[in-house]
Amino acid sequence: MQFTVAIDGPAGAGKGTLAKAVAARFGFAHLDTGLLYRAVGRKALDQGRGTLDEGLAELVARELTPPDLARDDLRGALASRAASKVAAMAGVRKALVAFQRDFARREGGAVLDGRDIGSVICPQAEVKLYLDASLDARARRRHEEMAAGGAAGSLDAVRREIEERDSRDASRADAPLTKPVDAHLIDTTDLTIEQAVERAVDIIEQAL
Ligand code: C5P
Repeated sequence: MQFTVAIDGPAGAGKGTLAKAVAARFGFAHLDTGLLYRAVGRKALDQGRGTLDEGLAELVARELTPPDLARDDLRGALASRAASKVAAMAGVRKALVAFQRDFARREGGAVLDGRDIGSVICPQAEVKLYLDASLDARARRRHEEMAAGGAAGSLDAVRREIEERDSRDASRADAPLTKPVDAHLIDTTDLTIEQAVERAVDIIEQAL
């Protein structure tokens, strides 16, 4: 059985948590596509000795390996910013398309979360969800997540980082963050994780 659930939305809307829960509920495989861009950004920064070169980033994207995705420094602010910068490079995005599409059509069902899954990677996905929440709610969650992971930083700094990244992600020419017309909107501002998951599960069950 091939069945794709595409989940998009801005930083901190709860995509990752929801995607994991939905994948576990239905026994689908899960791909966090943001991790691909984080790994490319981080590795390209290392190889470029602190600067992000487009040609180098494209090469890194074409030759990404499993250990690159398992680095322990992919969740911090440096990797977030580098991810959103390399994500605006057309050659980098192109190099990552085939892997994501193959993953989406694997047997047994797949959940992919990112920014362009329903719009560019899997326009034919059986279910498209778009998660959103107020900037304050998203900043608060991201801040709590980072604090739990031992990373310091003020709530204000996290809010600014998210705002900057969202505006870059939404304004880039190639595959900007946007809600596909046929995506179901779930606003998670006032929802618990369990409530958001239940909404998603209802939508998916109707499509199965
Ligand atoms: O989802 P996450 O915050 O890990 O994504 C990091 C960055 O990767 C995003 O800010 C965005 O620039 C980029 N990204 C993207 N397309 C995706 C997933 C992530 O452009 N499908």
